Amino acid sequence: EKGGYDWFMQKEIAEQPQAVADTLLGRVNADGKLVLDEMRLSEEELRAITKIIVVACGTAYHAGLIAKYAIEHWTRIPVEVELAGEFRYRDPILTRDTLVIAISQSGETMDTLMAIRHAREQHSRVLAICNTNGSTIPRESDAVVYTHGGPEIGVASTKAFLTQLTACYLVGLYLAQVRGVKFNDEVAEVLTQLSDSPAAIAETLNRMDPVRKLARSMVGARTVLFLGRHVGYPMALEGALKLKELAYIHAEGFAAGELKHGPIALIEQDLPVVVVVPSPKRPLLHDKIVSNIQEVRARGAKTIVIAEDGDEAVAPYADFLFHVPELPILLQPLVATIPLQVFAAELADALGYDVDQPRNLAKSVTVE
Ligand code: M6R
Repeated sequence: EKGGYDWFMQKEIAEQPQAVADTLLGRVNADGKLVLDEMRLSEEELRAITKIIVVACGTAYHAGLIAKYAIEHWTRIPVEVELAGEFRYRDPILTRDTLVIAISQSGETMDTLMAIRHAREQHSRVLAICNTNGSTIPRESDAVVYTHGGPEIGVASTKAFLTQLTACYLVGLYLAQVRGVKFNDEVAEVLTQLSDSPAAIAETLNRMDPVRKLARSMVGARTVLFLGRHVGYPMALEGALKLKELAYIHAEGFAAGELKHGPIALIEQDLPVVVVVPSPKRPLLHDKIVSNIQEVRARGAKTIVIAEDGDEAVAPYADFLFHVPELPILLQPLVATIPLQVFAAELADALGYDVDQPRNLAKSVTVE
């Protein structure tokens, strides 16, 4: 059943090119227009949306944080992202013209379910992004976009995350198309880039041996920090979550811009700091991150850097440098997350932990 892999998580990481390809399958009609079958909200209803709130937990929340960058850029609709467990307790502003997007692999997460029930009581529309056919969250939603990731057994979410991102991109592009905003050409272009992404994901997987080796050399680490900017920030949060839940190592993700506002005080000799670097084609962002890497390294940090192919500007400041294939920045999480997943899983295994069943955790959290 593990198909020759040591753990389900390893298998699920390897299945990511296919999972993303399956999630993209059949979404474009003969006229090149994006179609979402399970979209039961009319175009008129979608045109009326004035605000989007994404609710989710854990890894799905990180997918939501990345979705915000993409959906706002493509549609110009303001997007908030909220931890589902916080949502209904703070009297959120919800109207008929608010679209709540609930992201959940299992479709049974109680915090997320309670959040959408609250949203519907306030007459907002709810769209679910879910991996489990017929589960409770999609049943209680106005519309569903299913991710076609197949069953995910490992408690730590991997292929579900990449397919959630894919579905979020599709929803963002669909909204842009329906609303006919100025980005229609961009919709077609991004769809092409998305359809190329499974090959880039597969290529990334082929490059993971050095990441495994590094992880296995780090069994003594007590704390690992993760830094990123733009979509690299949610990726940093995701990398830290993976390490906490699998290897039981204290890990924190930071927005790189926050370093000087506190976290830099944590940097000491040999502290591992993982940094996700945006494309050099975005020089403003890229150069800022490069100086952040210099800053932490000057204070003794051991820098583990994930950068795009061809980006050598970071090399002088990287103790370890891993390149991932080039994708437009909004899609970069589809490849740059993979070394973070592999790093956490390998380190956990090297420490002798059960990668598929981390302590204290359940695959589906059905209590609030
Ligand atoms: O089934 P869901 O996507 O709603 O689950 C949400 C979280 O419980 C889940 O992503 C959790 O954080 C994972 N263990 C992370 O790897």
